[in-house]
Amino acid sequence: MQHDDPPGGAPAPKAWSGRFAEPFDRLTQRYTASVGFDRRLAEFDVQGSLAHARMLARCAILPAADLEAIERGMAQVLAEIREGRFDWSLEREDVHLNIEHRLTELVGDAGKRLHTARSRNDQVATDIRLWLRAEIDSLAVLLRAVRVRLLDMAEAHAATVMPGFTHLQVAQPVTFGHHLLAYFEMFTRDAGRLADCRKRVNRLPLGAAALAGTSFPIDRESVAAELGFDGVCENSLDAVSDRDFAVEFLAAGALAMAHVSRLAEELVLWMNPRFGFVEIADRFCTGSSIMPQKKNPDVPELMRGKAGRVYGALVTLLTLVKSQPLAYNKDNQEDKEPLFDAADTLADTFTILAELLGGVSARPERMRAALAEGFATATDLADYLVRRGVPFRDAHEIVARAVREAEIAGVDLADLPVARLREFSPRIDPDVYEVLTPEGSVASRRHTGGTAPAAVREAIARARARL
Ligand code: ARG
Repeated sequence: MQHDDPPGGAPAPKAWSGRFAEPFDRLTQRYTASVGFDRRLAEFDVQGSLAHARMLARCAILPAADLEAIERGMAQVLAEIREGRFDWSLEREDVHLNIEHRLTELVGDAGKRLHTARSRNDQVATDIRLWLRAEIDSLAVLLRAVRVRLLDMAEAHAATVMPGFTHLQVAQPVTFGHHLLAYFEMFTRDAGRLADCRKRVNRLPLGAAALAGTSFPIDRESVAAELGFDGVCENSLDAVSDRDFAVEFLAAGALAMAHVSRLAEELVLWMNPRFGFVEIADRFCTGSSIMPQKKNPDVPELMRGKAGRVYGALVTLLTLVKSQPLAYNKDNQEDKEPLFDAADTLADTFTILAELLGGVSARPERMRAALAEGFATATDLADYLVRRGVPFRDAHEIVARAVREAEIAGVDLADLPVARLREFSPRIDPDVYEVLTPEGSVASRRHTGGTAPAAVREAIARARARL
């Protein structure tokens, strides 16, 4: 991009400079320009302009010859942008004025007629919506890949037992497949939130012009149809000033990153040798420049950390819309960089998460060993006593005493002989060992949403049907 002032000269006249008595201040120019980042919207800007021009021609607001010139000129503009030959200029402020200027260079007066019945206010709102819609659609594909990967892993580990935790203390046995399905559910809701937000993104602001609509006999609905919008924004003041669709996107993205960060955190814990529940392929880890023995889980750590960027973008946009009087205000120009950064962060994170999951291998023997240390089947023993008529509160007390005894002896509940267990309650019989094993424990939880291998396989089948 050319940032430099023309040698010795005053800045070139602006598209709106007719009203002004002195040349634009250089710092003001740099401060107010957005072309450095809104160039990213160029393809959508052209798309929106073409749909607008065609509508103007259909409504006899623009001569057919002008439309033909605009279409020809825009084809060249697009080619120049795609081939990196487009001469972006800070003096022309933003993506819209840069493109219009070049178009006019190429086709003359027809280019100057393009902006009839339009303003940059409804133009930029349209561009962002077109861009964001495309982003949401590609994020949905990436997130789907993560969800498919989780289902595949869950299927492979439908019967692999591991400790379930509360307060990060061993609580009850669960299956690894069940644990992974919890993340599948989170990411499925995230996908649903993005899809829901898309409905509100997908409305056309064009036609609102600067704020009050236009005196030309336009046909907004046909522009909406051409651009694939579900309909038009109903109110012109709202159309140019609304950014809540972007806030919604960021809120959905922030939650998705929260979910990613939980999974990332668990991977970091699980790969720590003290847990040793999983191995993460070397290609996702890094070494230390000083400690030769180190293998660090950098990728999950970064995924955890990057949640902060998306949260930051959400807070930025919420702050941006707060207290803005109707209708358009230049504050809104600040919506783009956080949106771009958040969308890129989400795309990269979903992509690498799907890859990373492919490089995670479970260590079932370590999971099982951790279960043996945590008295994870204590609740199962209490439930067993309840089924034999002991009130739950009494059963709880009986099992607590048995756990204390086992702890002192340094063994698991299942290692205590039945004679010893009967000292705590005469209702205990040799069949108790069926519930004291992790496999017995998980198998007994086979209702919908439960952790039994059979329940997990059913959940996977339902999830695949939903996908
Ligand atoms: N670059 C501006 C933005 O991003 C385009 C709209 C400018 N409109 C205006 N009246 N200054 O919001």
